[in-house]
Amino acid sequence: MMRAMPPSWADLSLRRQVMERTARELTRRLCGRDFTASFRFLSRDDAPALHELSVRATRSTPAFGAVLSLDERQMDRYWRALGDTLLADQESFVVALVDGAHLLSVASLGSPAFPGAGNAICLLWHLLGGIGPAGLFRYLRAIHDYERLLSLPGHESASTIRLIWLYADPDERGRGAGTRMCTFLVELCHDLGFARIQGAVDAADVRLNRFYERLGARHGRRSRMSGIEVVETIRLLTEGTGVGPG
Ligand SMILES: CC(C)(COP(=O)(O)OP(=O)(O)OC[C@H]1O[C@@H](n2cnc3c(N)ncnc32)[C@H](O)[C@@H]1OP(=O)(O)O)[C@@H](O)C(=O)NCCC(=O)NCCS
Repeated sequence: MMRAMPPSWADLSLRRQVMERTARELTRRLCGRDFTASFRFLSRDDAPALHELSVRATRSTPAFGAVLSLDERQMDRYWRALGDTLLADQESFVVALVDGAHLLSVASLGSPAFPGAGNAICLLWHLLGGIGPAGLFRYLRAIHDYERLLSLPGHESASTIRLIWLYADPDERGRGAGTRMCTFLVELCHDLGFARIQGAVDAADVRLNRFYERLGARHGRRSRMSGIEVVETIRLLTEGTGVGPG
């Protein structure tokens, strides 16, 4: 049986307070004259901007579609369906580093209870319409492998939050948005009471793996999604939130 989630996550009003406070504080600490931006949690109104960036991120990162076994057109449909679910579900959130209306970097995270039953059915329904039965079958097979790779015993699972997707605007990479976003996530998830952030990363992407290592992440189990080797990547939050210089 799954144990209770951390109280600061389970209590929606407390969760909102922690999120808003962290966004304010880390905007002040990590952004300034040399990097004009702020952290903002996205809402349903941001769905078009989220979709636009997700599609561009996929074009510049073919591994995104490859691990799910979806082509570029199917990824476009996938992002629409997933984005709507991430923005609607109570077990997930999407945060962006924004400069005005421009999304510099986006991260979506969810508890192991994401997506809730109703949203899961909606997601599958929209995916079926968007990517067809064969696409949905391949997608579900990849998700099955993903779930198996990231499965944890109940007590660890309840204190784990998953980094579902992270990307920076392809035209802005290398300017520090990704590092700032990860610093933000480490502090936020720690303050929400989680013990670890967990994700699955393309094992062959040396730059990406170095990026996460610099931010204090460790590698765990290895598996394959759609034939691509992926590695479980864990950032423990019980050892402090400090990260080295980007
Ligand atoms: C990984 C990523 C979010 C980092 O954001 P960023 O704003 O470029 O990062 P920063 O400027 O803070 O840090 C630069 C570091 O990011 C990593 N990085 C930069 N561009 C990258 C790319 N195209 N692919 C993988 N890693 C990249 C490198 O480690 C780089 O350091 P290096 O120049 O010493 O190699 C961003 O590059 C990206 O969106 N990559 C493609 C999408 C992706 O693979 N996301 C992770 C999926 S879990």
